[in-house]
Amino acid sequence: MATTLLPILEAEPLLSGATGSGVRLRDGHGRALTDLRVSVTDRCNYKCVYCRTGNDGAQYSELPIAAYARMLRVFVSLGIEKIRLTGGEPLLRTGLLELVRETAELRPAFTDAPLDIAITTNGHLLAGMAQPLKDAGLSRITISMDAVDPETFTRITRVPGGFERVRAGIRAAQDAGLGPVKINCVLLRGFNESQIEAFAEFSRSERVIVRFIEFMPLEEDRTWTPETVVPMSEIVARLNAVRPLVALPPNHASETARRFTFEDGVGEIGIIAPVSEPFCGHCSRIRLTSDGKLRTCLFSQTDHDLAGLMLRGASDDDMRDWIRGMVQQKEARHHIGEPGFLKPSRSMVHIGG
Ligand code: 5AD
Repeated sequence: MATTLLPILEAEPLLSGATGSGVRLRDGHGRALTDLRVSVTDRCNYKCVYCRTGNDGAQYSELPIAAYARMLRVFVSLGIEKIRLTGGEPLLRTGLLELVRETAELRPAFTDAPLDIAITTNGHLLAGMAQPLKDAGLSRITISMDAVDPETFTRITRVPGGFERVRAGIRAAQDAGLGPVKINCVLLRGFNESQIEAFAEFSRSERVIVRFIEFMPLEEDRTWTPETVVPMSEIVARLNAVRPLVALPPNHASETARRFTFEDGVGEIGIIAPVSEPFCGHCSRIRLTSDGKLRTCLFSQTDHDLAGLMLRGASDDDMRDWIRGMVQQKEARHHIGEPGFLKPSRSMVHIGG
């Protein structure tokens, strides 16, 4: 793949900074698209029960780093202001630091604020990479951690020895100045709902933002049922029983998390409730899969082959026109829990969160 793409990647100079491109990117429902999530590999070193089958698939698909870099430059020229690198597990990806460095050179086209570059990682390899990532220009980090009890953690990840490594990764991120670190916890009925109270304490003692996420039907195994979801109302009730919650205002208009602190202002909890309280109406996100397909929704039934367009020799302007056209098809909303809901064409490990 790398050798075939190279002549095309070199067809236009890899300029730093976004070039002018008219009006900012909007979908067919008038929503401004400012947030791009890019999966840089669909490999993962964990086999979390809510994501993977538990079998090691030999098949994976990645593009050369230069291909992602070019796409990111084009997207930023269209109005993307926030880029989140995901996977699979992005820290497994060779060339990740180079991609962060190149991305950090880009300037958003429609605002003077710097480009926000975040990463979502399982933290297993983070202890040695937090400082290099910060030095490369990373702005923020989210670490997936589904239990604060080591045994429950391993029961979910299905890889022994991870818990202490993730704890070390969190500390390394804080030491590198990547704080406040966000911790994502997907709540699964019967696996880790018992961790809710302990996570509240973890947020307070470790000074991290803990975000509980309702389980969505994105897993390879197709185990999702409405009963597996621990809804926001239940999370709020349980936290309130520990210590009264106080609501915090959203950080920005397309915030997905309901934010809370406790009465004494110590600790921060976010609850992301795509199932029980969908936030599609102010969705600002689009996604690129590890093999370069544009996805307009986590739950899309199709994706659109941007890498293929590049391979066929498209110019940056061709790519911009194509992207502007494709995002017109962005879905108004997902249909989780409704009769006739179809699971998406790809699972989370390929799309990235
Ligand atoms: N439902 C909700 N969240 C999920 N994640 C992965 N799969 C699911 C799912 N089916 C979370 C991960 C990670 C982020 C990328 O998305 O735990 O934190």
